[in-house]
Amino acid sequence: MKTILIFVSSLDGKITKWGEANVRLWSSHQDQDYYKKVWNESRLIVMGSTTFNADTFNPSPDHLMIVMTSHPERYKTAELPGQIEFTNETPVEITARFTNKGYQQMLVIGGPHIATSFLKEQLIDELWLTIEPKIFGSGGNFAIDAKLDIDTRLIQFEKVNDQGTLITKYAVLKK
Ligand SMILES: NC(=O)c1ccc[n+]([C@@H]2O[C@H](COP(=O)([O-])OP(=O)(O)OC[C@H]3O[C@@H](n4cnc5c(N)ncnc54)[C@H](OP(=O)(O)O)[C@@H]3O)[C@@H](O)[C@H]2O)c1
Repeated sequence: MKTILIFVSSLDGKITKWGEANVRLWSSHQDQDYYKKVWNESRLIVMGSTTFNADTFNPSPDHLMIVMTSHPERYKTAELPGQIEFTNETPVEITARFTNKGYQQMLVIGGPHIATSFLKEQLIDELWLTIEPKIFGSGGNFAIDAKLDIDTRLIQFEKVNDQGTLITKYAVLKK
């Protein structure tokens, strides 16, 4: 199974503008269209509870959304088996479960806490990063509170508008 981490970031590496949750307020239409397409093509999508709580996610039989939380019992009313599930499994356990079930791809949509916990365990195969040509100065990075030393290789990039939004894909090089 290929595990993909996807984020949109400013030029100075911020994935939130000044800490505000809604990326749609500053990401380009081209990135939003691209993200929608990636979402629609993803059968298995993993996110942290903070990202889940920051937005509205409509369940669909086309996607299985896995929300990571240490309190799955708090989300009993939101649970819809096969569409939205809440789990306190670790990144290693989630990866093993869906690998064993035969899934080909898993999209990890963040946020930074979840991204970092997957990166620490070397479970990410590709990083799909949109770089918006903006500078925010403050806001969160997608990797946090950890000493990481991860090499990547650029495998794809595309300039998708006049301002220069770049949609990139990096392979994570395994050590
Ligand atoms: N620019 C982008 O592309 C992008 C993408 C995604 C998110 N975001 C932004 O990022 C922000 C949220 O990110 P975040 O880092 O604060 O939260 P997050 O990664 O979405 O969720 C973190 C929470 O998940 C739970 N959790 C369960 N298992 C965990 C594990 N193994 N490691 C870490 N956390 C675990 C914990 O909450 P409990 O156990 O208490 O439930 C933890 O507080 C939002 O503002 C969102 O809009 C931006």
